[in-house]
Amino acid sequence: MSYPIRHFDAIVVGGGGAGLRAAYQLSKAGINTVVLSKVFPTRSHTVAAQGGISASLGNVQPDQWDWHMYDTVKGSDWLGDQDAIEYMCRAAPEVVVELEHMGMPFDRVESGKIYQRPFGGHTSEHGKRPVERACAVADRTGHAMLHTLYQQNVAVNTNFYVEWSALDLIRDNDGDVIGVVAMEMETGEVYILHAKAVLFATGGGGRIYASSTNAFMNTGDGLGMAARAGIPLEDMEFWQFHPTGVAKAGVLITEGVRGEGGILLNSEGERFMERYAPTVKDLASRDVVSRAMAMEIHEGRGCGPDKDYVLLKLDHLGADKIMSKLPGIREIAINFAGVDPIKDPIPVVPTTHYMMGGIPTNYHGEVVVPQGDDYDAKVNGFYAAGECACASVHGANRLGTNSLLDLVVFGRAAGNSMIEFIKNYGPLKPLPEDVAEFTRARLERLNSQTNGENVSSLRNELQKNVQAHAGVFRTDAVLKEGKDKIFELAERVKKTEIQDKSNIWNTARLEALELDNLIEVAKATLVSAEARKESRGAHASDDHPDRDDANWMKHSLYYSNNNSLSYKPVHTDPLTVDYIKPAKRVY
Ligand code: FUM
Repeated sequence: MSYPIRHFDAIVVGGGGAGLRAAYQLSKAGINTVVLSKVFPTRSHTVAAQGGISASLGNVQPDQWDWHMYDTVKGSDWLGDQDAIEYMCRAAPEVVVELEHMGMPFDRVESGKIYQRPFGGHTSEHGKRPVERACAVADRTGHAMLHTLYQQNVAVNTNFYVEWSALDLIRDNDGDVIGVVAMEMETGEVYILHAKAVLFATGGGGRIYASSTNAFMNTGDGLGMAARAGIPLEDMEFWQFHPTGVAKAGVLITEGVRGEGGILLNSEGERFMERYAPTVKDLASRDVVSRAMAMEIHEGRGCGPDKDYVLLKLDHLGADKIMSKLPGIREIAINFAGVDPIKDPIPVVPTTHYMMGGIPTNYHGEVVVPQGDDYDAKVNGFYAAGECACASVHGANRLGTNSLLDLVVFGRAAGNSMIEFIKNYGPLKPLPEDVAEFTRARLERLNSQTNGENVSSLRNELQKNVQAHAGVFRTDAVLKEGKDKIFELAERVKKTEIQDKSNIWNTARLEALELDNLIEVAKATLVSAEARKESRGAHASDDHPDRDDANWMKHSLYYSNNNSLSYKPVHTDPLTVDYIKPAKRVY
């Protein structure tokens, strides 16, 4: 039995900010484009982004794109590629104004210009003082962006396959990417989607952790598909812990709270960030603030009966400001922490938030892999953008609000690259004879497995293991233990069993297929983290407390097929300006 085939020019997997920005570019250019999304596009995880999108508009205080670039390079702890960072920071004002013209309802300052607030690590004049760079729609910026981009796609007739899950990438005998195998979730029918170019914009894989600000759907699907198709995963040891997740619930409390003047306090009522980051205090980079919080808790200055969280105080901002600029935060605090921040502080802990690594790309959104002497050989027909991609603009630690920026800058860039590629393409390349056989085998194995492993218990074990072994602070021994455990779990994941074999809305089957992706992300994380013998950005090792530029200023590449690692150099040549040389990272 062969699966039905549908043909397109371009397939975009993922209906979040990056996917929608790329699809808009493609459809507007007359390219026959389909967007596949596991959820209705306006429910994609971009919707959860709160505090803003960065751009050096200078609407509140003077700002410059090269200051933004400096902050991003410093924030990345010098692991970010400086060509890509320059490209992103230069493009930022233009893409934000584009969004404004599309109808995104930004908050406004008195003059009518877009409202901007300070965010962690964003400074003027190379670290002198915090700067207002985050363009915000109250604390619902991602929500507003997603709705704007969706409406623009409707206007240009993008095709949407809603509640479809991509299962595997299709590569032909030359290694070119020519489609995906996908499942319509409602019917359980499997299809071959054949195209000239495929973009992955599938978001992150934060659900490898037990406590995460990520949605349940963030199972690293793009990374799993890429890894199974022989594409390496880059810099997977770098996971961002957002300083302010609601204690015990993990729900995000935007950094915009501190941008508006909120402060962190320990059990002694001390504004402890003054000790860790004397210049910018609570607005230091996220890895710095998360480590400071973990230290305070570790040294017994945590709050509450178990001394296991710190407090985020914002009552001094006044009810008016909280209601107008942070209304969603108030709602979250009431619902998930049982406190009204107009009166009481919010209990917070660092919570897994963002995957800095991903599918390796250049700043055109083209997927690149090492081939012979070329570290950045293109995989024809394959593109990636957004959190699933590693451009690498975030390096070892992302600055807040650079994620929404990354989505639109590289979504647009990938769309443009695909348009050029498709224009010169000719007819569709033939599908390989054994197309979808690999996916069929995966599905048949799931249907025939008996005495197998329970999917949700295994997923819980995986999440607990990653949480315990790849946290804010790491040691060689803990990482080794976590890695060994992940490989044991990986063997068990091959034997998952589902009781329900039906086709219609079989969420058990989907969860089993998602677990195949989570395990790829978890393996890449533990293997890459155990190998990196230094501390850089979000990878903080007690055994190797210093950054080691001589040996470790390089990107890791994890190959799933033989569990091996290789490395490639950081791009130290920006496009037009001078190289920003490594320096000690103080805030
Ligand atoms: O804190 C926040 O609003 C999150 C923003 C981000 O991750 O960029």
